[in-house]
Amino acid sequence: MDKLLIRGGGPLSGEIRVSGSKNAALPILAATLLSSEPIRVSNLPHLHDITTMIALLRSMGTELLVDEKLCVEINGATTKQTTAPYELVKTMRASILVLGPLLAHFGRARVSFPGGCAIGSRPVDQHLRGLEAMGAQIEVDEGYITATCPNGRLKGAHILFDMVTVGGTENVLMAACLAEGRTVLENAAREPEIIDLANCLIAMGAKISGHGSATITIDGVEKLGGCSYSVMPDRIEAGTYLVAAAATRGNIKLRDIDPNTLDAVLVKLEEAGAKIEHGEDWISLDMEGRRPKAVSFKTVPYPGFPTDMQAQFTAMNAVAEGVAKVSETIFENRLIQTHEMNRMGANISVDGNTALITGTERLKGAPVMASDLRASASLVIAGLVADGETLVDRIYHIDRGYECIEEKFLSLGADIRRVSS
Ligand code: UD1
Repeated sequence: MDKLLIRGGGPLSGEIRVSGSKNAALPILAATLLSSEPIRVSNLPHLHDITTMIALLRSMGTELLVDEKLCVEINGATTKQTTAPYELVKTMRASILVLGPLLAHFGRARVSFPGGCAIGSRPVDQHLRGLEAMGAQIEVDEGYITATCPNGRLKGAHILFDMVTVGGTENVLMAACLAEGRTVLENAAREPEIIDLANCLIAMGAKISGHGSATITIDGVEKLGGCSYSVMPDRIEAGTYLVAAAATRGNIKLRDIDPNTLDAVLVKLEEAGAKIEHGEDWISLDMEGRRPKAVSFKTVPYPGFPTDMQAQFTAMNAVAEGVAKVSETIFENRLIQTHEMNRMGANISVDGNTALITGTERLKGAPVMASDLRASASLVIAGLVADGETLVDRIYHIDRGYECIEEKFLSLGADIRRVSS
């Protein structure tokens, strides 16, 4: 199993290009199942999760063509069977996103029930309730969700989500595109990835308005057609490198990123003492050699502070000046990485969903274990600000979400190497 060996050192400095967004690419790949014509998707990141989604489409017999730049042309109409098997769903929860498209296009779907994961129980009741409101019949047995459409086609409905759910909004939004009549989604997620998905669906011929707000209206159409779509840049990858540069008192310039998608993160980095500049598609950060100041925050749905950036900021707070209070309100078990950071000399106490982090000048290198994707990234940041060697184990989590992580950190001057045991 691969590990990352990091020798903590001086400030990161340099320029990198931000990859395509994993969390936008996954629903967009699932959405190709809705179309009756080929869809060409570009700017996909080279990541395990993307490979898993492609494998899932292939396992259903969907014809697809991949080129050397990972542009994928997918013909959803060629799908031969509508089951997403346990072997694939267990490795990637986002596989649930094929449920709505399969049901809306083919009238049936069988998707293995995604279990909980390291960061929490993660139910999918809102996905199922939304589809049921559109007339789907849903049964859960032998670990599978079986959804059918007794009337042949889903029917538009008024759906109020109990909580803001990104995946739930995506699944129901996709299904509504081929439903008969109007669907209104209330308390919908407003994440930029929802906007990207909606823009792709619109390019396929869907009639959607209000995406990016809490109320999305979809007027169902009978068929969706082909298009070419380039996936948006990854705001979480971008945020991770910005925080890494800030924690190491360095400077960085990111290319191919929309700064508007990172408002809450940039505000907190400025509060930490970073000098931030940005243009239409770039962001630069400079700590001018200063130690970051501790920043407190609470994770909330977009446009508030993202849960996917919590662990990285916790790593920065571990070496910041002062005391930070961080509350995680989205997932119940997402402060687990703090225990590994304490093994590196951090001073973090956790009470329920709140962490109190008292900054220390530097951490000490240690062997640590990654427990989920963003937690792994935070341990890499901790390794960069630690004296001596840090060996991050179980980095398959990182490979699910960070394209060319060693190459990108190396180009910023980090001492980082992948080792096989
Ligand atoms: C997506 C992102 C993930 C991010 C999360 C929150 C992808 C592939 N993943 O995950 O990186 O951390 O949004 O921004 O885009 N919930 C329910 N019932 C449901 C659905 C959700 O109770 O049916 C709860 C969840 O347990 C969680 C909260 O709602 O507490 C938010 O989850 P959700 O927004 O659905 O997260 P994901 O779509 O799984």
